[in-house]
Amino acid sequence: MLIRAATSADAAEMSRVLRAIIAASGRERPGDIAFVLAQYIDNFTGIRCSVAVSDSNRLLGFQSLVRATPGNRYHVPDGWGIIGTHIGPDAHRQGVGKALFAASLAAATAAGIEAIDAYIGADNATGLAYYAAMGFTTYHKPPGIVQKVYRLG
Ligand SMILES: CC(C)(COP(=O)(O)OP(=O)(O)OC[C@H]1O[C@@H](n2cnc3c(N)ncnc32)[C@H](O)[C@@H]1OP(=O)(O)O)[C@@H](O)C(=O)NCCC(=O)NCCS
Repeated sequence: MLIRAATSADAAEMSRVLRAIIAASGRERPGDIAFVLAQYIDNFTGIRCSVAVSDSNRLLGFQSLVRATPGNRYHVPDGWGIIGTHIGPDAHRQGVGKALFAASLAAATAAGIEAIDAYIGADNATGLAYYAAMGFTTYHKPPGIVQKVYRLG
């Protein structure tokens, strides 16, 4: 498996991964190529978006890290990072998320980020377990949501 920075050439495969997650989870959300480009590749608040690619060059998943800006919809403090992780269901529990987080953490450190927020559905047991395993702890619980934080330094 290779971890590298996402490029616009990955957008179609990233969209495929999002659609597979939507199909498996039943949680409806945007997943088209235009959304991927705007949200993950061309996002001006982006610090790093990493993709995980298999030995046979298949995109397994990706993780984005953006900088919280004033008025962000997650109410995350200015200057923190906001993380999002999307691994295709056929690649779960193989260490892909863990490998991606190593890259995101290095990017957060290089960017001088003091803390990283993860905004997770309260019913998403897998997401909650994953971020807990990566060292995130719960700091805020709006209705139906759990916000976890990873503090650097
Ligand atoms: C949550 C998600 C990112 C985890 O990615 P992953 O590549 O499967 O995770 P890893 O294999 O790197 O697992 C790392 C650790 O997380 C924990 N973990 C991951 N999946 C888990 C599960 N289903 N149950 C319990 N613990 C789990 C474990 O501690 C695991 O370590 P271990 O396998 O050595 O026990 C992935 O399931 C996913 O993308 N799901 C759909 C989208 C989503 O829910 N995103 C996150 C919340 S917004």
